[in-house]
Formats: sequence, structure tokens, C-alpha cells
Amino acid sequence: MSIKNDVLSLLLENRGNYISGNSIAKTLSVSRNSVWKSIKSLEKDGYKITASTNKGYSLSVENDILSTQGILNHLENKDFYDIEYFPEVTSTNTLIKDYANCNSLEGKVFVSAKQTAGRGRLGRSFYSPEDTGVYFSILLRPVLSTDKIIFLTSMIANAVVSAISDTMNLDAKIKWVNDIFINDKKVCGILSEASFTVENFSLDYVTLGIGINIYSPKNGFPDELSNTAGYILDEKIDDIRNTLVAKILDNFLDNYKIFDTEKIAKEYKNNSFILGKDILVLQNDTALKATVLDIDENCALVVKYEDNSVKTLFSGEISTKII
Ligand code: BTN
Repeated sequence: MSIKNDVLSLLLENRGNYISGNSIAKTLSVSRNSVWKSIKSLEKDGYKITASTNKGYSLSVENDILSTQGILNHLENKDFYDIEYFPEVTSTNTLIKDYANCNSLEGKVFVSAKQTAGRGRLGRSFYSPEDTGVYFSILLRPVLSTDKIIFLTSMIANAVVSAISDTMNLDAKIKWVNDIFINDKKVCGILSEASFTVENFSLDYVTLGIGINIYSPKNGFPDELSNTAGYILDEKIDDIRNTLVAKILDNFLDNYKIFDTEKIAKEYKNNSFILGKDILVLQNDTALKATVLDIDENCALVVKYEDNSVKTLFSGEISTKII
């Protein structure tokens, strides 16, 4: 780890309180000059740090800046996850793909505050503007049959809902397959991608990509999203993005380790707001009216069409729109 990250770590631990330059230097066994340089560099990154000649440095409690160290400070499962933060990326899912081709472990997480080529489901793009959201992807290498992959997606959606409730006391709900809504607006999208070995079609790895709109984008949402997209918070909450990512990762891992599909499906159904609703089932270029009857034990959507036929829908190429 760099001196700058170590200094940040100490400031985060003492957030809101002063810690002297001397004591930082001693703790890290570095010179006071390198502490000063690190402080300057952190300020350049946007951290609000108060300096007092007698008392030292204090990290303001108003900071909500994403960082590897900031996430680690809140994370319980540090042994499983290997977190790497970048201020800007093309797409964290694409980064995972490149990484997975040369690394065999699971648990790698790429996090970013901005994506220039964020990807959504069904070949769409995902709007990922600077510094108001959080975009991250997790690399998993589960030993699973193809029909069980759906539970990973449901598990991460459940983890997001619980984390939003735990950290902000807000009631988020899932719209099948995997959009997270608060007050009728989509605040989070999830893109799960799987890679298979060609020879025997066995699962090689899975990427779970999560994009959350925390604050209002500086220039608002683009016109085509303005009716559907929303954000979670009007006011800044101290360190909420690091806290939220850590909580989602921990929540997810608790369930991933146990992989109790019955429990996952139950929780997923409970978190969903689509039950009983009239929807449009969108597939290829068709849109069919249906009523949602159930979410079954495989997290599949059971719908009744206007001709009274009942069908079970699996996520694949389908999306839904509430009418
Ligand atoms: C959707 O709503 O269609 C899914 C959006 C998924 C967006 C996330 S942001 C992090 C990860 N990287 C991407 O390029 N996409 C996912």
C-alpha cells in the first residue's frame, strides 16, 4: 500500500478528530514531509482536511469519496474480497472480464465513480456520470449448474435492498429481473454476465455488475431516462458510498457461502413489488400485456396473458414494464 493510502486510512479511523503529523509519521514510520505530501495529494483528490498548527490534521465528516481504503474500513469479509478502486473506467464489468482471463481467484471487485462505457442489460448502455453514483463489479467462480446462475443475480439484488435499508433506512424494492426502485424510480441496475468453457460448456466465471445512482447527476439525467431513473439521496451523507458498497459485499457473501436457494427465492419475492401488477412483457420486438401471478422457487416470473394462458418467464432476453 502507498503512504498516501496509509495516511488516508489513519485519517478515516480518526474521522472528525485531529491527529498530529508527528503521530501519523511515527505510526507509519515515514517522514513528516511525506505525510504532508500525502495530505496535499488527498486534498487534490477532493478530501476535505482541516489542518491546525497545534493539533494536526482532521478529515471532515462531510466527505463522501469512494476509495479502496474507505470501503475496506467498513468491510467485514476482507479475506474473500480484493477491492480495487479507480476514479474513472470504461466499464467495471469489462475490467473484470480482462482480469478473469489472467487470474484464477474469485472475489476481485473493481469499483469506480465514473464509467465512460457503462453497460446495461440487453445491449443497452448504463448512464454512469461522474461522482454521484457508484459502479462496481464482482468476479465469482462458483461451481454451479447453469440453471442456478439466476440465484446469484437474485442474491445480489437482495443484498442491495438490505444494504439500502441498513445504511439509509429506506425501502427499496426489486422489479423483475433486477432493477431496484425507490418511490417508483429506478435507482440501481444489475448486469450479470457469465463465461463458459467451450469444450464442456462448464461455467468458468460470473461477473455481477451493480450501478447505483446515489445523488442527482450534476446535469440531471439525459432526456430518455428522466421519467424512469431516480437517485437515492438529496443531501450528502458522510461516507455513504463506501459504507454501502461494503455492506452490499458483506450481505452478498453471507448468502453466497450458504447458497440456500429456497431462502434466496423467498427473500427475492418478498423484496419484489411486481406481484399482482399489470405489466408489459417485452421480448425482441414484441410487447404483451400480462398480470404477474407469482415469483416462483427459481425466481422466475409467473404471468397470465390476456388470452388467459399462464407462462413462467426466465430472465434471458425478457424485460418488463409496469403499466
Ligand atoms: C441495467 O440496468 O440494465 C443493468 C445496469 C448495470 C450497470 C452496472 S454499473 C457496474 C457494471 N459495469 C457496467 O458496465 N455495468 C454494470
